[in-house]
Amino acid sequence: MKTVQIKDKHFVPYISNQEIHDALQQLATAINRDMAEKCPVFLGVLNGCFRVMGDLMQYINIPCEVSFVKLASYEGMQTTGTIRNLIGLSQSLENRHIVIVEDIIDSGITIDYTIRLLQEMGVASVRVATLLLKPEALKRDIKADYTAFRIPNDFVVGYGLDYDGLGRELNDIYTLKQ
Ligand code: IMP
Ligand code: MG
Repeated sequence: MKTVQIKDKHFVPYISNQEIHDALQQLATAINRDMAEKCPVFLGVLNGCFRVMGDLMQYINIPCEVSFVKLASYEGMQTTGTIRNLIGLSQSLENRHIVIVEDIIDSGITIDYTIRLLQEMGVASVRVATLLLKPEALKRDIKADYTAFRIPNDFVVGYGLDYDGLGRELNDIYTLKQ
C-alpha cells in the first residue's frame, strides 16, 4: 500500500479520486434538482475547498455564480475554536440563495460562523455542501444538506486538505496510519 509521509506523520490511502468524483456527481445531481430555479451562489471556504469546488462544477448544470471567502479556525491538527478572520466577500449576497462549499466539517465551528455571518447579510437561504463530515467531532448543531462522505474522527489529508500546509496536491484522500 502506498503510504505518504508529511513531516512526522504517515498516511495511508483512504478515499480515491474516482470515489470522490462519483460522490460529487451524486451531490451535484441533488443540487441541480433542488436549486434549478434559484441561481445560487456557490460560496467556497478557502483554502481547503478549491478542489471540491472545481470538480463539483463539472457536474453542476444550472445557472449559478461562484465566489470564495476565507475564514480560518484551524491550526495544525487541532481545532483552536477561535475564528480569526474573514477575507474576500466583495459582492452583495442579499436575497441570494447560497450553497456553502466545504472540504470538511470537523467541529462545525467554521461553518456555523459562516452561516451566521451570511444570515446577518440578509441572504434568502443557506445550504451546506461538504465533501467530508466528521459526525463524532461536531460541537455545533450543523445540518449539512449535501454530504459526500461521513468519516470517523481521524485526521485526513489530500485533495485540498492539508497537514500544516502540506498535502493539498494529493489526488486521493489519505488518513493517519494507525
Ligand atoms: P471546523 O471549524 O472544526 O469544522 O474545521 C473546519 C476546517 O478545519 C476545515 O475547513 C479544514 O480546513 C480543517 N480540518 C478539519 N479537519 C481536518 C482534517 O482531518 N484534515 C485537514 N484539515 C482539517
Ligand atoms: Mg485547513
